Amino acid sequence: MIEIHRLSCSFSEGMFSRSQFMAVSPTSASFKNGGRYAIVGESGSGKTTLARMIAGLQKPSGGNMMIDNEPVYGKKRGVRKCHFKKVQIIQQNSASALDPKMVIGKSIEEPLVCFFHMEKAERKKRCKELMAMCNLPVDYYARLPSELSGGEQKRVAIARALAVEPECLIFDEATNGFDLPLRKRIVEEIIDLQRKTGFTMIFITHDMELAVVVADEILVMKDSCLVEQAAFSGDTSVFTNEYSRMLLMASGIK
Ligand SMILES: Nc1ncnc2c1ncn2[C@@H]1O[C@H](COP(=O)(O)OP(=O)(O)OP(=O)(O)O)[C@@H](O)[C@H]1O
Ligand SMILES: [Mg+2]
Repeated sequence: MIEIHRLSCSFSEGMFSRSQFMAVSPTSASFKNGGRYAIVGESGSGKTTLARMIAGLQKPSGGNMMIDNEPVYGKKRGVRKCHFKKVQIIQQNSASALDPKMVIGKSIEEPLVCFFHMEKAERKKRCKELMAMCNLPVDYYARLPSELSGGEQKRVAIARALAVEPECLIFDEATNGFDLPLRKRIVEEIIDLQRKTGFTMIFITHDMELAVVVADEILVMKDSCLVEQAAFSGDTSVFTNEYSRMLLMASGIK
Protein backbone atom coordinates (compact mmCIF):
# COMPACT_ATOMS: atom_id res chain seq x y z
CA MET A 1 0.00 0.00 0.00
CA ILE A 2 1.34 3.39 -1.01
CA GLU A 3 0.10 6.42 0.89
CA ILE A 4 0.98 10.01 0.16
CA HIS A 5 0.08 12.72 2.61
CA ARG A 6 0.18 16.39 1.54
CA LEU A 7 3.04 15.59 -0.84
CA SER A 8 4.07 18.72 -2.73
CA CYS A 9 6.77 19.97 -5.06
CA SER A 10 7.81 23.48 -5.92
CA PHE A 11 10.55 24.70 -8.23
CA SER A 12 12.39 27.97 -8.31
CA GLU A 13 10.89 30.38 -10.88
CA GLY A 14 14.31 31.07 -12.38
CA MET A 15 17.99 31.56 -11.68
CA PHE A 16 17.57 35.16 -10.53
CA SER A 17 14.23 34.79 -8.81
CA ARG A 18 13.49 33.84 -5.24
CA SER A 19 9.88 33.00 -5.90
CA GLN A 20 8.74 29.43 -6.15
CA PHE A 21 6.45 27.80 -8.67
CA MET A 22 4.10 25.11 -7.33
CA ALA A 23 4.25 22.09 -9.69
CA VAL A 24 2.30 19.86 -7.28
CA SER A 25 0.23 21.41 -4.50
CA PRO A 26 -0.13 19.36 -1.27
CA THR A 27 -1.67 16.10 -2.46
CA SER A 28 -2.99 13.15 -0.49
CA ALA A 29 -3.97 9.80 -1.98
CA SER A 30 -3.57 6.09 -1.46
CA PHE A 31 -2.83 3.21 -3.82
CA LYS A 32 -3.81 -0.30 -2.71
CA ASN A 33 -1.63 -3.28 -3.63
CA GLY A 34 -2.60 -4.72 -6.99
CA GLY A 35 -4.93 -1.80 -7.82
CA ARG A 36 -5.14 -0.19 -11.24
CA TYR A 37 -5.03 3.60 -11.12
CA ALA A 38 -4.91 6.33 -13.73
CA ILE A 39 -3.78 9.91 -13.22
CA VAL A 40 -5.45 12.17 -15.77
CA GLY A 41 -5.05 15.87 -16.44
CA GLU A 42 -4.01 18.49 -18.93
CA SER A 43 -0.41 19.17 -19.90
CA GLY A 44 1.52 20.90 -17.11
CA SER A 45 -0.94 19.90 -14.37
CA GLY A 46 1.81 18.11 -12.43
CA LYS A 47 1.26 14.45 -13.33
CA THR A 48 4.90 13.62 -14.12
CA THR A 49 6.21 15.53 -11.11
CA LEU A 50 3.81 13.66 -8.81
CA ALA A 51 4.81 10.34 -10.42
CA ARG A 52 8.51 11.11 -10.04
CA MET A 53 8.00 11.82 -6.33
CA ILE A 54 6.12 8.53 -5.91
CA ALA A 55 8.98 6.75 -7.72
CA GLY A 56 11.68 8.40 -5.60
CA LEU A 57 13.20 10.39 -8.48
CA GLN A 58 12.06 13.83 -7.33
CA LYS A 59 12.47 15.01 -3.76
CA PRO A 60 9.23 16.48 -2.42
CA SER A 61 9.21 20.00 -1.01
CA GLY A 62 6.73 18.95 1.64
CA GLY A 63 4.54 16.17 2.95
CA ASN A 64 5.36 12.52 3.37
CA MET A 65 4.98 9.16 1.72
CA MET A 66 4.69 5.66 3.15
CA ILE A 67 5.08 2.30 1.47
CA ASP A 68 3.63 -0.54 3.54
CA ASN A 69 3.58 1.80 6.55
CA GLU A 70 7.29 2.68 6.21
CA PRO A 71 8.21 6.32 5.50
CA VAL A 72 10.34 6.49 2.34
CA TYR A 73 11.70 10.00 2.37
CA GLY A 74 14.12 9.44 5.24
CA LYS A 75 17.84 10.06 5.11
CA LYS A 76 19.13 6.50 5.03
CA ARG A 77 20.51 5.13 1.74
CA GLY A 78 19.10 1.68 2.44
CA VAL A 79 15.61 3.11 2.58
CA ARG A 80 16.05 4.78 -0.83
CA LYS A 81 17.21 1.56 -2.47
CA CYS A 82 14.19 -0.15 -0.96
CA HIS A 83 12.01 2.62 -2.47
CA PHE A 84 13.41 1.96 -5.98
CA LYS A 85 12.93 -1.76 -5.45
CA LYS A 86 9.26 -1.23 -4.66
CA VAL A 87 8.31 1.45 -7.18
CA GLN A 88 9.53 1.63 -10.77
CA ILE A 89 8.59 4.16 -13.42
CA ILE A 90 8.51 3.89 -17.19
CA GLN A 91 9.38 7.47 -18.05
CA GLN A 92 7.51 9.61 -20.56
CA ASN A 93 10.47 9.49 -22.94
CA SER A 94 11.61 5.94 -22.28
CA ALA A 95 14.00 5.84 -25.27
CA SER A 96 16.22 8.47 -23.67
CA ALA A 97 16.24 6.47 -20.44
CA LEU A 98 18.09 3.62 -22.24
CA ASP A 99 21.86 3.80 -22.60
CA PRO A 100 22.41 4.23 -26.38
CA LYS A 101 25.71 2.30 -26.24
CA MET A 102 24.41 -0.66 -24.23
CA VAL A 103 22.80 -3.64 -25.96
CA ILE A 104 19.26 -4.09 -24.73
CA GLY A 105 19.93 -7.49 -23.11
CA LYS A 106 22.56 -5.93 -20.85
CA SER A 107 20.24 -3.04 -20.13
CA ILE A 108 17.55 -5.44 -18.88
CA GLU A 109 20.15 -7.40 -16.89
CA GLU A 110 21.49 -4.34 -15.05
CA PRO A 111 18.78 -4.35 -12.33
CA LEU A 112 19.19 -8.13 -11.94
CA VAL A 113 22.79 -7.50 -10.86
CA CYS A 114 22.00 -4.43 -8.79
CA PHE A 115 18.99 -5.78 -6.88
CA PHE A 116 19.43 -9.58 -6.95
CA HIS A 117 23.21 -10.06 -7.46
CA MET A 118 22.44 -12.74 -10.04
CA GLU A 119 25.25 -14.69 -11.72
CA LYS A 120 25.74 -14.42 -15.48
CA ALA A 121 23.93 -17.60 -16.60
CA GLU A 122 21.00 -17.04 -14.27
CA ARG A 123 20.50 -13.41 -15.28
CA LYS A 124 20.72 -14.23 -18.99
CA LYS A 125 17.97 -16.80 -18.50
CA ARG A 126 15.82 -14.33 -16.54
CA CYS A 127 16.49 -11.61 -19.12
CA LYS A 128 15.18 -13.87 -21.89
CA GLU A 129 12.07 -14.67 -19.82
CA LEU A 130 11.44 -10.94 -19.34
CA MET A 131 11.94 -10.25 -23.05
CA ALA A 132 9.44 -12.98 -23.94
CA MET A 133 6.96 -11.61 -21.37
CA CYS A 134 7.18 -8.20 -23.02
CA ASN A 135 6.82 -9.59 -26.55
CA LEU A 136 10.40 -8.88 -27.55
CA PRO A 137 12.08 -11.51 -29.75
CA VAL A 138 14.91 -13.00 -27.67
CA ASP A 139 17.34 -12.65 -30.58
CA TYR A 140 17.14 -8.87 -30.07
CA TYR A 141 19.37 -9.38 -27.02
CA ALA A 142 22.48 -7.95 -28.74
CA ARG A 143 20.74 -5.03 -30.46
CA LEU A 144 21.30 -1.41 -29.54
CA PRO A 145 18.27 0.80 -28.67
CA SER A 146 18.76 2.67 -31.98
CA GLU A 147 18.14 -0.60 -33.82
CA LEU A 148 14.63 -0.92 -32.36
CA SER A 149 11.31 0.74 -33.18
CA GLY A 150 9.67 3.12 -30.68
CA GLY A 151 7.24 0.40 -29.54
CA GLU A 152 10.08 -2.08 -29.04
CA GLN A 153 12.08 0.48 -27.05
CA LYS A 154 9.01 0.96 -24.83
CA ARG A 155 8.87 -2.82 -24.29
CA VAL A 156 12.57 -2.85 -23.30
CA ALA A 157 11.89 -0.11 -20.73
CA ILE A 158 8.99 -2.19 -19.36
CA ALA A 159 11.11 -5.38 -19.23
CA ARG A 160 13.88 -3.49 -17.42
CA ALA A 161 11.42 -2.14 -14.85
CA LEU A 162 9.81 -5.59 -14.38
CA ALA A 163 13.28 -7.07 -13.75
CA VAL A 164 13.24 -5.26 -10.41
CA GLU A 165 10.00 -7.12 -9.49
CA PRO A 166 8.44 -3.91 -8.17
CA GLU A 167 5.24 -3.78 -6.18
CA CYS A 168 4.18 -0.73 -8.13
CA LEU A 169 4.81 0.22 -11.74
CA ILE A 170 4.11 3.72 -13.04
CA PHE A 171 3.57 4.25 -16.76
CA ASP A 172 4.03 7.90 -17.71
CA GLU A 173 2.28 8.51 -21.04
CA ALA A 174 3.15 4.98 -22.13
CA THR A 175 1.57 5.27 -25.56
CA ASN A 176 2.38 8.84 -26.54
CA GLY A 177 3.63 9.30 -30.06
CA PHE A 178 2.46 5.89 -31.32
CA ASP A 179 -0.13 5.31 -34.01
CA LEU A 180 -3.54 4.02 -32.95
CA PRO A 181 -3.01 0.24 -33.52
CA LEU A 182 0.32 0.30 -31.62
CA ARG A 183 -1.21 2.34 -28.78
CA LYS A 184 -3.94 -0.26 -28.47
CA ARG A 185 -1.45 -3.14 -28.54
CA ILE A 186 0.87 -1.60 -25.91
CA VAL A 187 -2.10 -0.88 -23.62
CA GLU A 188 -3.35 -4.48 -24.00
CA GLU A 189 0.14 -5.79 -23.23
CA ILE A 190 0.39 -3.60 -20.10
CA ILE A 191 -3.03 -4.75 -18.83
CA ASP A 192 -2.07 -8.37 -19.53
CA LEU A 193 1.25 -7.99 -17.63
CA GLN A 194 -0.55 -6.36 -14.70
CA ARG A 195 -3.03 -9.27 -14.52
CA LYS A 196 -0.23 -11.86 -14.70
CA THR A 197 2.18 -10.29 -12.22
CA GLY A 198 -0.22 -8.33 -10.00
CA PHE A 199 1.78 -5.11 -9.58
CA THR A 200 -0.01 -1.94 -8.53
CA MET A 201 -0.39 0.05 -11.74
CA ILE A 202 -0.38 3.84 -11.99
CA PHE A 203 -1.09 4.84 -15.55
CA ILE A 204 -0.56 8.50 -16.43
CA THR A 205 -2.33 9.97 -19.40
CA HIS A 206 -4.09 13.13 -20.56
CA ASP A 207 -6.64 10.91 -22.31
CA MET A 208 -9.73 10.22 -20.14
CA GLU A 209 -11.04 7.70 -22.69
CA LEU A 210 -7.91 5.60 -22.20
CA ALA A 211 -7.89 6.11 -18.42
CA VAL A 212 -11.33 4.56 -17.96
CA VAL A 213 -10.28 1.51 -20.01
CA VAL A 214 -7.09 0.76 -18.09
CA ALA A 215 -7.96 1.77 -14.53
CA ASP A 216 -10.45 1.00 -11.80
CA GLU A 217 -9.75 4.24 -10.00
CA ILE A 218 -9.13 7.63 -11.59
CA LEU A 219 -7.25 10.58 -10.11
CA VAL A 220 -7.84 13.89 -11.86
CA MET A 221 -5.27 16.69 -11.71
CA LYS A 222 -5.68 20.32 -12.69
CA ASP A 223 -3.27 23.24 -12.18
CA SER A 224 -1.03 21.28 -9.77
CA CYS A 225 -3.97 20.06 -7.64
CA LEU A 226 -5.56 16.66 -7.32
CA VAL A 227 -9.19 17.65 -7.82
CA GLU A 228 -10.79 14.23 -7.55
CA GLN A 229 -10.11 10.52 -6.91
CA ALA A 230 -12.98 8.23 -7.89
CA ALA A 231 -13.51 4.50 -8.37
CA PHE A 232 -15.03 4.10 -11.82
CA SER A 233 -16.88 1.05 -13.08
CA GLY A 234 -19.05 2.56 -15.77
CA ASP A 235 -21.19 4.97 -13.76
CA THR A 236 -20.02 8.51 -14.52
CA SER A 237 -21.99 9.98 -11.61
CA VAL A 238 -19.07 8.98 -9.33
CA PHE A 239 -17.31 12.04 -10.75
CA THR A 240 -18.61 15.15 -9.07
CA ASN A 241 -15.89 17.66 -9.90
CA GLU A 242 -16.75 20.02 -12.75
CA TYR A 243 -13.38 19.59 -14.47
CA SER A 244 -13.55 15.76 -14.32
CA ARG A 245 -17.03 15.89 -15.85
CA MET A 246 -15.75 18.17 -18.59
CA LEU A 247 -12.98 15.65 -19.39
CA LEU A 248 -15.56 12.84 -19.52
CA MET A 249 -17.79 14.81 -21.87
CA ALA A 250 -14.87 15.78 -24.10
CA SER A 251 -14.01 12.07 -24.41
CA GLY A 252 -17.60 11.24 -25.31
CA ILE A 253 -18.09 9.11 -22.16
CA LYS A 254 -21.66 9.28 -20.87
N1 LIG B 1 12.64 20.26 -12.95
C1 LIG B 1 11.77 21.25 -13.13
N2 LIG B 1 12.09 22.55 -12.91
C2 LIG B 1 11.20 23.55 -13.06
N3 LIG B 1 9.92 23.36 -13.41
C3 LIG B 1 9.52 22.10 -13.64
C4 LIG B 1 10.41 20.98 -13.52
N4 LIG B 1 9.70 19.84 -13.81
C5 LIG B 1 8.46 20.25 -14.11
N5 LIG B 1 8.34 21.59 -14.02
C6 LIG B 1 7.13 22.37 -14.25
O1 LIG B 1 6.10 21.84 -13.43
C7 LIG B 1 4.84 21.85 -14.10
C8 LIG B 1 4.26 20.45 -14.11
O2 LIG B 1 5.06 19.65 -14.98
P1 LIG B 1 4.78 18.12 -15.22
O3 LIG B 1 5.85 17.61 -16.12
O4 LIG B 1 4.61 17.45 -13.91
O5 LIG B 1 3.37 18.19 -15.98
P2 LIG B 1 2.55 17.04 -16.68
O6 LIG B 1 1.16 17.07 -16.12
O7 LIG B 1 3.28 15.75 -16.62
O8 LIG B 1 2.49 17.55 -18.20
P3 LIG B 1 2.51 16.71 -19.58
O9 LIG B 1 1.12 16.14 -19.75
O10 LIG B 1 2.80 17.74 -20.63
O11 LIG B 1 3.57 15.67 -19.49
C9 LIG B 1 5.12 22.40 -15.50
O12 LIG B 1 4.72 23.76 -15.52
C10 LIG B 1 6.61 22.25 -15.68
O13 LIG B 1 7.14 23.27 -16.49
MG1 LIG C 1 4.16 14.52 -18.01
